[in-house]
Amino acid sequence: MAMIAPSILSADFANLQRDVLDIQRSGADLVHVDVMDGIFVPNITIGIPVVKALRPVTGLPLDVHLMIHRPIRYVEDFARAGADYITIHVEADQPQNTLEALDKIHALGCKAGIVLKPKTPAEAAIPYLAKCDMVLVMTVEPGFGGQSFMADMMPKVRKLRAWLDEQAPHCLLEVDGGVDAATCQICKDSGANVLVAGSAYFKAADRAAFVKTVQR
Ligand code: DX5
Ligand code: ZN
Repeated sequence: MAMIAPSILSADFANLQRDVLDIQRSGADLVHVDVMDGIFVPNITIGIPVVKALRPVTGLPLDVHLMIHRPIRYVEDFARAGADYITIHVEADQPQNTLEALDKIHALGCKAGIVLKPKTPAEAAIPYLAKCDMVLVMTVEPGFGGQSFMADMMPKVRKLRAWLDEQAPHCLLEVDGGVDAATCQICKDSGANVLVAGSAYFKAADRAAFVKTVQR
Protein backbone atom coordinates (compact mmCIF):
# COMPACT_ATOMS: atom_id res chain seq x y z
CA MET A 1 0.00 0.00 0.00
CA ALA A 2 1.47 3.34 -1.09
CA MET A 3 0.36 6.95 -0.74
CA ILE A 4 -0.16 9.29 -3.68
CA ALA A 5 0.70 12.98 -3.76
CA PRO A 6 -0.75 14.63 -6.87
CA SER A 7 1.41 17.59 -7.95
CA ILE A 8 -0.45 20.83 -8.51
CA LEU A 9 2.23 21.80 -11.02
CA SER A 10 -0.07 20.17 -13.59
CA ALA A 11 -3.25 21.73 -12.16
CA ASP A 12 -5.16 24.58 -13.77
CA PHE A 13 -3.68 27.57 -11.90
CA ALA A 14 -6.75 29.64 -12.71
CA ASN A 15 -8.81 27.03 -10.84
CA LEU A 16 -6.45 25.91 -8.12
CA GLN A 17 -9.05 25.64 -5.38
CA ARG A 18 -11.26 23.47 -7.59
CA ASP A 19 -8.32 21.21 -8.49
CA VAL A 20 -7.12 20.85 -4.89
CA LEU A 21 -10.63 19.95 -3.79
CA ASP A 22 -10.67 17.40 -6.57
CA ILE A 23 -7.38 15.93 -5.29
CA GLN A 24 -9.07 15.46 -1.94
CA ARG A 25 -12.26 14.05 -3.45
CA SER A 26 -10.34 11.53 -5.55
CA GLY A 27 -8.95 9.89 -2.39
CA ALA A 28 -5.34 11.10 -2.64
CA ASP A 29 -3.16 11.26 0.48
CA LEU A 30 -1.13 14.47 0.15
CA VAL A 31 -0.99 17.56 -2.06
CA HIS A 32 2.45 18.01 -3.65
CA VAL A 33 3.48 21.64 -4.13
CA ASP A 34 6.44 22.29 -6.46
CA VAL A 35 8.25 25.52 -5.61
CA MET A 36 10.86 26.66 -8.17
CA ASP A 37 13.02 29.79 -8.10
CA GLY A 38 14.49 30.04 -11.60
CA ILE A 39 18.00 29.59 -10.13
CA PHE A 40 18.19 26.10 -8.66
CA VAL A 41 16.05 24.92 -11.58
CA PRO A 42 15.37 26.64 -14.91
CA ASN A 43 11.71 27.38 -14.17
CA ILE A 44 9.62 29.55 -11.82
CA THR A 45 6.37 28.31 -10.36
CA ILE A 46 4.63 29.20 -7.12
CA GLY A 47 5.58 30.30 -3.65
CA ILE A 48 4.58 31.23 -0.13
CA PRO A 49 1.30 33.11 -0.84
CA VAL A 50 -0.06 30.15 -2.79
CA VAL A 51 0.70 27.72 0.05
CA LYS A 52 -1.00 30.14 2.43
CA ALA A 53 -4.05 30.44 0.18
CA LEU A 54 -4.37 26.67 -0.20
CA ARG A 55 -4.01 25.90 3.51
CA PRO A 56 -7.67 26.48 4.40
CA VAL A 57 -8.88 24.76 1.21
CA THR A 58 -7.92 21.22 2.20
CA GLY A 59 -7.26 19.08 5.25
CA LEU A 60 -4.77 17.00 3.26
CA PRO A 61 -1.11 17.43 4.20
CA LEU A 62 0.73 19.93 2.00
CA ASP A 63 3.94 18.33 0.76
CA VAL A 64 6.10 21.28 -0.23
CA HIS A 65 9.04 20.42 -2.50
CA LEU A 66 11.48 23.34 -2.49
CA MET A 67 13.52 23.48 -5.69
CA ILE A 68 15.23 26.67 -4.58
CA HIS A 69 18.80 27.80 -3.95
CA ARG A 70 19.73 27.95 -0.23
CA PRO A 71 16.29 26.86 1.07
CA ILE A 72 17.24 27.67 4.67
CA ARG A 73 16.34 31.28 3.81
CA TYR A 74 12.68 30.41 3.28
CA VAL A 75 11.74 27.33 5.33
CA GLU A 76 10.26 29.48 8.09
CA ASP A 77 7.99 31.30 5.62
CA PHE A 78 6.73 28.04 4.14
CA ALA A 79 6.15 26.54 7.59
CA ARG A 80 4.16 29.58 8.70
CA ALA A 81 2.18 29.49 5.45
CA GLY A 82 0.92 26.04 6.43
CA ALA A 83 3.22 23.42 4.91
CA ASP A 84 3.13 19.99 6.57
CA TYR A 85 6.16 18.47 4.86
CA ILE A 86 9.03 20.62 3.64
CA THR A 87 11.66 18.91 1.50
CA ILE A 88 14.92 20.55 0.47
CA HIS A 89 17.54 19.51 -2.08
CA VAL A 90 20.92 18.32 -0.78
CA GLU A 91 22.47 20.02 -3.85
CA ALA A 92 21.03 23.42 -2.93
CA ASP A 93 23.43 24.42 -0.13
CA GLN A 94 26.40 23.43 2.04
CA PRO A 95 25.80 20.36 4.27
CA GLN A 96 25.94 22.45 7.45
CA ASN A 97 23.12 24.68 6.20
CA THR A 98 21.09 21.69 5.04
CA LEU A 99 21.36 20.14 8.52
CA GLU A 100 20.41 23.45 10.10
CA ALA A 101 17.46 23.86 7.74
CA LEU A 102 16.14 20.40 8.70
CA ASP A 103 16.35 21.36 12.39
CA LYS A 104 14.63 24.64 11.68
CA ILE A 105 11.78 22.88 9.84
CA HIS A 106 11.27 20.57 12.83
CA ALA A 107 11.43 23.46 15.30
CA LEU A 108 8.60 25.09 13.33
CA GLY A 109 6.46 21.97 13.82
CA CYS A 110 6.74 20.54 10.30
CA LYS A 111 8.03 17.26 8.91
CA ALA A 112 11.37 17.61 7.15
CA GLY A 113 12.96 15.82 4.25
CA ILE A 114 15.73 15.86 1.70
CA VAL A 115 15.61 15.46 -2.07
CA LEU A 116 18.15 13.88 -4.42
CA LYS A 117 18.45 14.91 -8.08
CA PRO A 118 19.00 12.06 -10.56
CA LYS A 119 22.80 12.49 -10.70
CA THR A 120 23.13 12.61 -6.90
CA PRO A 121 24.01 9.21 -5.43
CA ALA A 122 22.03 7.55 -2.63
CA GLU A 123 25.07 7.95 -0.36
CA ALA A 124 24.55 11.74 -0.35
CA ALA A 125 21.48 11.16 1.85
CA ILE A 126 23.38 9.39 4.63
CA PRO A 127 24.43 12.43 6.72
CA TYR A 128 20.79 13.58 6.89
CA LEU A 129 18.79 10.38 7.42
CA ALA A 130 18.57 10.75 11.20
CA LYS A 131 16.86 14.13 10.72
CA CYS A 132 14.46 13.08 7.94
CA ASP A 133 10.76 12.24 7.97
CA MET A 134 10.90 11.89 4.20
CA VAL A 135 13.49 11.19 1.53
CA LEU A 136 12.53 12.12 -2.03
CA VAL A 137 14.24 10.53 -5.02
CA MET A 138 13.76 12.47 -8.27
CA THR A 139 12.91 10.23 -11.20
CA VAL A 140 13.23 13.15 -13.66
CA GLU A 141 15.49 16.22 -13.69
CA PRO A 142 13.65 18.73 -11.49
CA GLY A 143 12.12 21.73 -13.23
CA PHE A 144 9.22 20.56 -15.34
CA GLY A 145 6.23 18.25 -15.29
CA GLY A 146 5.47 15.76 -18.04
CA GLN A 147 8.97 14.27 -18.47
CA SER A 148 9.78 10.58 -18.94
CA PHE A 149 10.29 8.36 -15.91
CA MET A 150 13.92 7.34 -15.24
CA ALA A 151 13.73 3.66 -14.36
CA ASP A 152 17.49 3.70 -13.73
CA MET A 153 16.79 5.52 -10.43
CA MET A 154 15.33 2.32 -8.96
CA PRO A 155 18.63 0.96 -7.59
CA LYS A 156 18.93 4.23 -5.64
CA VAL A 157 15.42 3.77 -4.26
CA ARG A 158 16.23 0.17 -3.26
CA LYS A 159 19.42 1.24 -1.47
CA LEU A 160 17.55 3.93 0.45
CA ARG A 161 14.75 1.49 1.30
CA ALA A 162 17.31 -0.87 2.87
CA TRP A 163 18.99 1.91 4.89
CA LEU A 164 15.68 3.37 6.06
CA ASP A 165 14.38 -0.04 7.14
CA GLU A 166 17.49 -0.33 9.30
CA GLN A 167 17.98 3.20 10.55
CA ALA A 168 14.72 5.16 10.22
CA PRO A 169 11.72 2.93 9.51
CA HIS A 170 9.30 5.82 10.13
CA CYS A 171 10.86 7.88 7.33
CA LEU A 172 8.78 8.03 4.13
CA LEU A 173 10.44 7.28 0.78
CA GLU A 174 8.97 9.35 -2.03
CA VAL A 175 9.56 9.32 -5.79
CA ASP A 176 8.77 12.24 -8.08
CA GLY A 177 8.68 12.50 -11.86
CA GLY A 178 7.07 10.52 -14.65
CA VAL A 179 4.98 8.37 -12.33
CA ASP A 180 1.91 6.95 -14.06
CA ALA A 181 -0.33 3.89 -13.88
CA ALA A 182 2.45 1.73 -15.36
CA THR A 183 5.63 3.16 -13.78
CA CYS A 184 4.12 3.28 -10.29
CA GLN A 185 4.54 -0.47 -9.96
CA ILE A 186 8.33 -0.59 -10.18
CA CYS A 187 8.51 2.33 -7.69
CA LYS A 188 6.46 0.41 -5.13
CA ASP A 189 8.38 -2.80 -5.84
CA SER A 190 11.62 -0.88 -5.19
CA GLY A 191 10.36 0.32 -1.81
CA ALA A 192 8.89 3.78 -2.37
CA ASN A 193 5.80 4.46 -0.30
CA VAL A 194 4.82 7.97 -1.46
CA LEU A 195 4.39 8.55 -5.19
CA VAL A 196 4.09 12.01 -6.72
CA ALA A 197 2.09 12.22 -9.94
CA GLY A 198 1.47 15.43 -11.83
CA SER A 199 0.54 15.05 -15.48
CA ALA A 200 -0.66 11.44 -15.19
CA TYR A 201 -3.01 12.37 -12.33
CA PHE A 202 -4.50 15.43 -14.04
CA LYS A 203 -4.81 13.67 -17.39
CA ALA A 204 -6.53 10.59 -15.95
CA ALA A 205 -10.10 10.21 -17.20
CA ASP A 206 -11.04 8.76 -13.81
CA ARG A 207 -8.83 10.35 -11.13
CA ALA A 208 -10.26 8.26 -8.27
CA ALA A 209 -9.47 5.07 -10.21
CA PHE A 210 -5.95 6.36 -10.93
CA VAL A 211 -5.44 7.09 -7.23
CA LYS A 212 -6.52 3.55 -6.34
CA THR A 213 -4.15 2.06 -8.93
CA VAL A 214 -1.20 3.95 -7.46
CA GLN A 215 -2.18 3.20 -3.85
CA ARG A 216 -2.76 -0.51 -4.43
C1 DX5 B 1 9.42 18.24 -11.27
C2 DX5 B 1 8.47 18.26 -10.10
C3 DX5 B 1 7.44 17.19 -10.13
C4 DX5 B 1 6.50 17.25 -11.28
C5 DX5 B 1 6.03 15.87 -11.59
O1 DX5 B 1 10.42 19.15 -11.05
O2 DX5 B 1 9.18 18.12 -8.89
O3 DX5 B 1 6.73 17.13 -8.91
O4 DX5 B 1 5.36 18.04 -11.02
O5 DX5 B 1 5.28 15.92 -12.75
P1 DX5 B 1 5.04 14.61 -13.61
O6 DX5 B 1 4.30 13.62 -12.76
O7 DX5 B 1 4.24 15.12 -14.75
O8 DX5 B 1 6.38 14.08 -14.03
ZN1 ZN C 1 8.04 17.72 -6.97
